Amino acid sequence: MSAPPPEPPGPKSAAIIARNQRYLIPTYARSDVVIARGRGAEIWDADGRRRLDWFSSILCTNLGHCHPAVTAAIQRQAETVVHVSNIQHSEPQSRLAELLVENSFGDAVFLCNSGAEANEAAIKAARRYGHARGGRYEVVTALGSFHGRTFAAIAATGQEKVRRGFEPSLPGFRYAPFGDSAAVEAAIGPHTVAVLVEPVQGEGGVVVPPEGYLARLREICDRHDLLLMLDEVQTGCGRTGTLWAHEQTGVAPDVMTLAKSLGNGVPVGAMVANRRAAAGLDLGSHGSTFGGNCVTNAAAVATIETLLDGRTLPRAREAAARLRAGLDALGTRHPDLVREVRGLGMLCGMELVDADRAKAVAARALDLGLLLNVTAERVLRIAPPIVITDPQIDEGLDLLGKALAE
Ligand SMILES: Cc1ncc(COP(=O)(O)O)c(C=O)c1O
Repeated sequence: MSAPPPEPPGPKSAAIIARNQRYLIPTYARSDVVIARGRGAEIWDADGRRRLDWFSSILCTNLGHCHPAVTAAIQRQAETVVHVSNIQHSEPQSRLAELLVENSFGDAVFLCNSGAEANEAAIKAARRYGHARGGRYEVVTALGSFHGRTFAAIAATGQEKVRRGFEPSLPGFRYAPFGDSAAVEAAIGPHTVAVLVEPVQGEGGVVVPPEGYLARLREICDRHDLLLMLDEVQTGCGRTGTLWAHEQTGVAPDVMTLAKSLGNGVPVGAMVANRRAAAGLDLGSHGSTFGGNCVTNAAAVATIETLLDGRTLPRAREAAARLRAGLDALGTRHPDLVREVRGLGMLCGMELVDADRAKAVAARALDLGLLLNVTAERVLRIAPPIVITDPQIDEGLDLLGKALAE
């Protein structure tokens, strides 16, 4: 077990929580934990208590907290130049773009700061693609999906609740049940220009589509001259055992969006596109002041280079198999409580019989020393850093087992 990083000075948990309650607009439901330090798959709260992290800061630290290569890259870049405008060139973004293109289906990249922005870029690229083909603009997305909180992203998201109170919604989206390619084809109309889905739905409850789903969508998109756009914000960057989740299907999309773990904890996003999809985003058509920022892009370069080192991904797959076997065993031991265990790689979901139980198990696990979260009301989302060690997997399984048993 690694030595904990030094305790930071400053107020303890209760004081920090009180200050947040006083000064922040309360848009998030938070647990009463202040995370003050992290190393790998371990976190320490502001009162010094250690816990295991099976949440990876909402899947943003796939390589674990303070990964040495990423931390060194951030430090180096912060001492060199922090930000360069997009009116000039800078090295970190050129290297990041090269890495993303040379290790994907893509021909070119637009760099931004978050998942919602990456999806905005994808939707704008799709509209340009459609405008050049008779004025098509509509995007078919999946029910239960999540694509972010900007206006285009909430319109794309197949969950009514994210749009409530923000109407009128951006027009141009249709929804089909996730995993149902026939329903996608039925939703295609004369104005349709693209299909946007997650390879595995994350916020929607860790839902894995049936075998062959993406291949069928690819075939449908080709037949109707549509762009196939994959939101890999949550599934990308090694989370599912390969660099991108769609690699496991053999399907090449036209567009892929990335964020979350791309910088292993710093805000960076990207839209990767093939030539056909990128063509519409011409000079002056899109931009972002901080897109391609030197420090965040240096972190992303270090993250991707680590994922490509030939050791990290094979180890992630090995760790994921151990984790999954343990979760399956817990599911078998608690058939009255666990409806299903599912997932891909290190993105796992344990669906419980009801929302109250899921909340209670997550709260008890937190008390016992294991951080995980509940998504889609009754699904425990289990997403440790992919660098988690075997003893840490076993420790977490033991704690989760105790929380389920109580
Ligand atoms: C699949 C997916 N797309 C997009 C987003 C939005 O990302 P961000 O919060 O960085 O805008 C998320 C966030 O959870 C996500 O899971």
